[in-house]
Amino acid sequence: MYLVNSTQMIQAVQKLSRTLAMPPLEAKAMARVLDLSEKSRTIINENVDGRKGNWGFMFMFYKTIQPTMAAAGDGLNKMNRTSIQRVEELLDDLNARAGSRLGLFALVKHQIALATSDAVYGPGNPFRDPVNADAYWEFESGVIKLLLGLDRFAKGTVTARGKVMEAFKEYFRVGAHKSGSEMIQAHYDHAIAYQLPLDDLARLEVGAALGVFSNIVPTTFWMLYHLYSDPEALEDCRREISNILERETDEHGRSTHVIDVSHLRSSCPTLLSAFQETLRLHTVGASARMVMEDMTLDGKYFLKEGGIVILPQTVQHTDISFWGPDIHEFNCKRFLDKNSRQASIAFRGFGGGTTLCPGRHFATTEILAYTAMFMMRFDVRPSEQTWKQPTTKKAGMWTVVEGPDHDIDVSIHSRQCEKVPPRWLLRLSKSDHVMVLAAEDNKSS
Ligand code: HEM
Repeated sequence: MYLVNSTQMIQAVQKLSRTLAMPPLEAKAMARVLDLSEKSRTIINENVDGRKGNWGFMFMFYKTIQPTMAAAGDGLNKMNRTSIQRVEELLDDLNARAGSRLGLFALVKHQIALATSDAVYGPGNPFRDPVNADAYWEFESGVIKLLLGLDRFAKGTVTARGKVMEAFKEYFRVGAHKSGSEMIQAHYDHAIAYQLPLDDLARLEVGAALGVFSNIVPTTFWMLYHLYSDPEALEDCRREISNILERETDEHGRSTHVIDVSHLRSSCPTLLSAFQETLRLHTVGASARMVMEDMTLDGKYFLKEGGIVILPQTVQHTDISFWGPDIHEFNCKRFLDKNSRQASIAFRGFGGGTTLCPGRHFATTEILAYTAMFMMRFDVRPSEQTWKQPTTKKAGMWTVVEGPDHDIDVSIHSRQCEKVPPRWLLRLSKSDHVMVLAAEDNKSS
């Protein structure tokens, strides 16, 4: 096993995406976690590293998916619009329950999973059924056992996986994906083009759901936790959002407050910085690559065929020479005074190179919309009176962002800014602003 910690060397590894390849490792993990048939195992392993040319199920997967969520593209735009509409409705629901006590993580998990899955899967979203949503979370909590080949100790996980798989099978069978996002349609078309059986297409979608939910949920939770537990940061973000808030009055004299998500992305630098800082602090993942042939990296380091190269994000995110001495503190302004090109190289929350997260613009937009509206509408008080950061020792080792070991019990109260409470709306007026979330985004901005 080879550990790569230097930023410069990471760039070198990323450039050699066929000899230092991620798809062979993904194919192995998928076959194990999703229990794919022999036929599908053979299909996904054909030309898995792309060294025989630009073809193969795994090798072409990213290239097929990436355009469906590309910055400023139609696919992303459609997903963003569905997501913010759901966020608006879900926070109206929360307002109706204001005053009650609940678990902050449980709330975020429920609401973010619904908004995200509606945007991805469309009106036929299988996760609207709580039975499927519960089964998914049960499956997710046991993924590590399946990865380690401990299936006989994971009966509940296997049963839960079967439930979600059946739900996806029905979803594809009735053609519900045709009304979903471009991304889900591309998943279907790609699998059909490579002649995967329907059972395995559904199994692969259970695996894809891990990528969709597993990081966006904890990131949103930690962002709310850090902002509410830091009154100054909360105040800074609220002030910024107030500056872009559009106040409208309808024909009945009722006022409406509109948050334009385009302005959140372009004109709320502290909010965006707080988001990146959340990811910097809570990213525990590591990218991995398989060495496909004996080679020398950067003219110096001999790597043996079959070895695994690990690129841990935490090392970059805790480099004192770049981030300063207070690397373990949450500083919502940390990204403000960084040169964006340098910061995007040292910041690896979304990975990089050929496996750079294609969902980053979608995830960022949804998280900014949800947290901004949340902060403007609600005050949150921990039941224990003081905010205590949950530990993360039990977090799944395979995720990029760590989840909390336990929930935080809170009460949520509507903020009374005006005598008659306004209606709250989210809007997306422009979709062409490209946020710099990774070094690769600098080229397109
Ligand atoms: C805050 C939320 C998210 C974070 C931090 C995150 C992070 C990452 C990272 C670090 C990778 C690269 C893994 C590697 O190179 O080893 C990745 C890959 C990926 N992400 Fe995300 N992600 C997030 C949300 C999403 C969402 C919402 C979607 C889909 C709607 C998504 C879709 C994907 C896909 C399909 C890949 C795999 C690309 C490939 O296999 O080549 N991600 N993500």
